Amino acid sequence: MTASPLAPGWLAHPDDANALAPAVWPASAVRGGDGAIRVAGASLTELAAEFGTPLYVVDEADVRSRAVAVRDAFGAAFAAVGSSAHVYYAGKAFLCTTVARWVVEEGLRIDVASGGELAVALAAGVDPALLGFHGNNKSLAEIDRAVGLGVGAIVLDSVVEIDRVATAADRHGRVQAVRLRINSGVHASTHEYLATAREDQKFGIPLADAADVVAAIRAHPSLRFLGLHSHIGSQIFESAGFAEAARRLLAVHAELLAGGEVPELNLGGGFGIAYTSADVVTPIADIAADFARVVAAECAELDIPVPVVAIEPGRVIIGPSTVTLYEVGTTKDVLVDGTATRKYVSVDGGMSDNVRPALYSADYSVRIANRQSDADPALVRIAGKHCESGDIVVHADYLPGDVTPGDLVAVPATGAYCWSLASNYNYLGRPAVVAVRDGAARVIVRRETEADLLSRDAGVNP
Ligand code: LLP
Repeated sequence: MTASPLAPGWLAHPDDANALAPAVWPASAVRGGDGAIRVAGASLTELAAEFGTPLYVVDEADVRSRAVAVRDAFGAAFAAVGSSAHVYYAGKAFLCTTVARWVVEEGLRIDVASGGELAVALAAGVDPALLGFHGNNKSLAEIDRAVGLGVGAIVLDSVVEIDRVATAADRHGRVQAVRLRINSGVHASTHEYLATAREDQKFGIPLADAADVVAAIRAHPSLRFLGLHSHIGSQIFESAGFAEAARRLLAVHAELLAGGEVPELNLGGGFGIAYTSADVVTPIADIAADFARVVAAECAELDIPVPVVAIEPGRVIIGPSTVTLYEVGTTKDVLVDGTATRKYVSVDGGMSDNVRPALYSADYSVRIANRQSDADPALVRIAGKHCESGDIVVHADYLPGDVTPGDLVAVPATGAYCWSLASNYNYLGRPAVVAVRDGAARVIVRRETEADLLSRDAGVNP
């Protein structure tokens, strides 16, 4: 069989449309003797029967090992240049109390970006000193709570926040550690980075203003300036953009040393993961080594000590750990332009559990989960059940052509920004999240029920 003319250029016609591309699936994913996919020893067929679909299935050991890999890679790379690294897990990618505990147990800190994320971390029992607090418009109540709790670092995003945080620190009789978010002018996305002309965005303050703003921070005895912060984007595969941002920030960091201590430099998150077999990912150890090399070289050039480097990855820790399991409800062969057929496979979820394809044109891949098949591969599009034609989960992949209603399909690499961006569109309840480990499964976030959906409706619950 040959490739479909409707297939995008990056999508190769597979030798085996049952195969699980190792970079895209959790490390433990294999097909069992019955052909069903198993994750961490648990059969996806059995998980669907027990917990229903759609279902997010997260491999606990996979999350923990990726957290450890990032921690160790950056720890070793910065130890080799006489410094150290702090790794914050970016909770916005996916946060519940169980995952918060996993990452903290593996030696990470957590970056939260709202009072709600803060509440989840606290409910998990995370020491507030391990938290970083972000946001371009933190409310006064959020600031007050964060300071009162003793949150480890607050990332100031604008000049007006300086007084707000200082006032809260005075009120609580604390000295609050703060970072200053800089818009470095570097913006990276996937394989490209733009080193100019990204001033027109809402985050941070211009690099040129940093000296004055830091002086204003230092003028408050209740604030302790930790250092500059930069986050250049997300789903980035190459380190060139990070390197450019690091160089730009370090030049200012060096000047700031004349006015007081600057113990840290935070270079944000954004490391890319593989969503399809076409994505080639740089190993985290290579990224860490690149970071350390660039930072150390720049510091040598500037004749300053290498600061402690903080990073805030989310996607690279949680993204590859999770698959979303759906049941196929309908299939349709649609003749396109009178020449080629695309098989639409509709599942019982969609943009309410994964909005990324609709929002960012993100690509995903898919496999039949409950069996394997020798049928010739067919080009498929996995569609959701929502009332929008843009409600697509997987734009293009090949599945065995006999995929049929009642089959289960699994979409890998859905750990980051799927559950956390989920909605109740069309009053679908958000799926459960099940953690699997050593063949055992447990619900870590339960499925939303109709009662949940109606619980805030004042016409029912006055
Ligand atoms: N630090 C800051 C300040 C951030 O804004 C972000 C992500 C991160 C760290 C973590 O980035 P990560 O390592 O996860 O790439 N919803 C989009 C991604 C938005 C990212 C927002 N900020 C998506 O689904 O692709």
